[in-house]
Amino acid sequence: MDGTSASGKSTTSKHLAKLLGFVYVDTGAMYRTLGWYCLRHKIDPANEKAAATACRKWKTTLECVDKQVNLLVDGVNPARELRTPEVSSATSLIAAVPKVRDWMKKKQRECIQFGDLVMEGRDIGTNVFPETDFKYYLDAHLEERTKRRAAEGIHENLAARDQRDSQRAAAPLMIALGAKVINNSGMTIPATCDIIIADMQAKGAKVELVAAK
Ligand code: DC
Repeated sequence: MDGTSASGKSTTSKHLAKLLGFVYVDTGAMYRTLGWYCLRHKIDPANEKAAATACRKWKTTLECVDKQVNLLVDGVNPARELRTPEVSSATSLIAAVPKVRDWMKKKQRECIQFGDLVMEGRDIGTNVFPETDFKYYLDAHLEERTKRRAAEGIHENLAARDQRDSQRAAAPLMIALGAKVINNSGMTIPATCDIIIADMQAKGAKVELVAAK
């Protein structure tokens, strides 16, 4: 599941994973963990070399708890501290570093050890699991996305972040070949999941729902 910021990737992916009984992976949280780590260790996120070195040296583990994958650093899951505007900006910078992306891709592919996945991010269909038949690209009007973030108490320039994510040289945000594009403006999460499940079935997947819609 790829798409623009605040396009509903997380809520949709979590709901879909629950319906399918799959493991949910938030790759943005993995990038954010490195952004958070850099800020905490006074590593300039704009310094490509330093970010790549940090990523080579930090001590991480992947864990799967309640069907959700977490990336721990030094044994800690900084989940609650990952959503600040400072971490968002730092993360967008480090996410443009090719060596960081290589490291993340390897870790993200390792998640398959936990079972079937719903994985969300910006380059899952284009770069991390290009071999999957089930690629979805979510988007919504900028005004609606901005309102969604504001409702979470977060005020940030989404257009600027999307532009950075789409224009970087390394694995930019783009629509994967064969991805189904869903503009979910004004659409509920279950309705978006219905579209995805119908598409999976149309592609020949035997879908068994393990939770009520
Ligand atoms: O989805 P998010 O807002 O938590 O993502 C945080 C940042 O990480 C965002 O700037 C895009 C980047 N990112 C990425 O480049 N590739 C991914 N697969 C996931 C996130």
